[in-house]
Amino acid sequence: MKTVKVGVLGIGNVATGTYKTLQLNREKIQKSTGVDIVISKILNRRPDVDRGIDVDPGVYVQDVNLILDDPEIDIVVELIGGIEPATEYMAKALANGKHVVTANKAALAVNGKMLQNLAMENKVMLRFEASVGGGIPVINAITTALRSNDFDEILGIVNGTTNYILTQMTDNGSDYDSVLKDAQEKGFAERDPSGDVEGHDVANKLSVLMSLVFGADIPPSDIPTQGITSVSKVDINYATQFGCKIKLIAAARKVGDTVECEVQPTLIPLTHPIASVNNEFNAIFITGNAVDDVMFYGKGAGPLPTGSAVMGDIIDIACAIDKGSAFDMQPVLRYDSELTFAGEGVNQYYVRLSVEDKPGILGKISSTFGNFGISIESMMQPKHSEIVPLLFIIHETKRSVLDDALADLVANNYVKSVDSVMKVVK
Ligand SMILES: NC(=O)c1ccc[n+]([C@@H]2O[C@H](COP(=O)([O-])OP(=O)(O)OC[C@H]3O[C@@H](n4cnc5c(N)ncnc54)[C@H](OP(=O)(O)O)[C@@H]3O)[C@@H](O)[C@H]2O)c1
Repeated sequence: MKTVKVGVLGIGNVATGTYKTLQLNREKIQKSTGVDIVISKILNRRPDVDRGIDVDPGVYVQDVNLILDDPEIDIVVELIGGIEPATEYMAKALANGKHVVTANKAALAVNGKMLQNLAMENKVMLRFEASVGGGIPVINAITTALRSNDFDEILGIVNGTTNYILTQMTDNGSDYDSVLKDAQEKGFAERDPSGDVEGHDVANKLSVLMSLVFGADIPPSDIPTQGITSVSKVDINYATQFGCKIKLIAAARKVGDTVECEVQPTLIPLTHPIASVNNEFNAIFITGNAVDDVMFYGKGAGPLPTGSAVMGDIIDIACAIDKGSAFDMQPVLRYDSELTFAGEGVNQYYVRLSVEDKPGILGKISSTFGNFGISIESMMQPKHSEIVPLLFIIHETKRSVLDDALADLVANNYVKSVDSVMKVVK
C-alpha cells in the first residue's frame, strides 16, 4: 500500500481534530483509498503541553524547517492560523514542491493569489475546504458538482460565534455582554472575540467565496463590513414585529458587470431558509443559473467537523499522488472574471429613529426621504411617550443616499437621533 506522509503545522483545535479524525477512521480510509496516510511530523512549539491526543513524542518538532525541508513529506497541513508566519510557511512548502492544505481564511483572503500562483508554478495543490464553513463541504461543491453554473448570489451565515450570540439574544432575550461571556465559557467564542464580533472573520470568508463563485479578486479590506456589537435587544424585538430575524450575513451578488457585497447584521424574513439557521450552525445559500437555489448547512467550526474537512483535502491529494496525477486536480481559487467591484450597491433598509411626539413630524420625515428619492415600504410607531421610536422599512437605495437623508433629518431637528440602520433581505 502506498504511504503518503503528512507534516502538520500547529497542534491546536483543528490540528487535534484532524489527527483524531484520521485515528478514528484510519482503517476505513485505507480500505476505500488503498493509501496509508501517516502524520509523520507535527510542529509543536510547546511540546510539554497536554494536547489530549495520543501521539508518539518523536513526531513533535519545534523547528518548522524539519517539516518544510523534509524530502519524505508530501503534504504540509497549515493549522497555526493568522496571516504570518502561516503565509511564509505555506509559500516555502509550495516552493519545495509540497502540496498544501490549510483552514486559514485570513491568510488566503490576503495572499490566496500569490499562494495559488506558487502552487501552479511548482505543480502542486493548494486546498482549503475547511477555511469556509468548517465541516460543510461548500468549496468542493462549488468547484466540482456546481461548476457548470454561472452564479448570481451568495448569502451566508459563516461565523458560528456571532450566530450563537444573536440566536441567544433572539430566543432567550439575553443581552449581548452576558451571551458573549457565556459563549466564551462554552468555547464558542475566543478570549479576544473582536475578529468574530466585528465581522472581519466573515469578510475573510466572503472574499474567499467571491473568488470561487464569481472569480472576483476582492480583498477583505475592501468589503463594507459591520459586526454585531451594535445590535440591540430592542432591534431584535422590532425585527420580529416585521416578521424577521437579525443575522450577521455575508452577501454578494452579481449586478450586470459588477459585484456588490457587504457583511452586515441583516433583517431576514422568517420564511427565508437562512432564518432558521441557529446557534453555532452555519449555512451558505447560493443561487446558480442552472441549479437555482442551493443551501449548505452544518457545523461551521469545532475540532472534528473542521478536521473532517481537512482530512477530505488530504485524502483527495493522497489518492491523486497514488495515481501519479496530483497536479491534474483543478486549482480552486480563481481570479479570472472581468467583473468590477461596486461596493455595497443598493439594498432595502430598516431604520429606527427617535422623534419628538409632535404633529407634522411624520410628514417632514416622509418628504425628506422623498427629496432624496427614498420611498418607504412600511412604517411602525410602537408606543406613545414624549420621545417616540419610529421604524421604517425603506425600498432599495444606496446606503450613502440614506445616510445623507438621515443626516438632513437630524440637522433640521425633525429627528432626535438615528438609533439603528440595518439591511433587509426579502
Ligand atoms: N477552530 C475552528 O473551529 C476553525 C474552523 C475553521 C477554520 N479554522 C482555522 O483553522 C486554523 C487553526 O485554528 P485553531 O482553532 O485550531 O487555532 P488554535 O487552537 O489557536 O491552534 C493554533 C495552533 O498553532 C500553534 N501556533 C500558532 N502560532 C504558531 C507559530 N508561530 N509557530 C508554531 N506554532 C504556532 C499554536 O500553538 P500553541 O498551542 O502552543 O499556542 C496552536 O497549537 C485557523 O486558521 C482558523 O481560522 C478554525
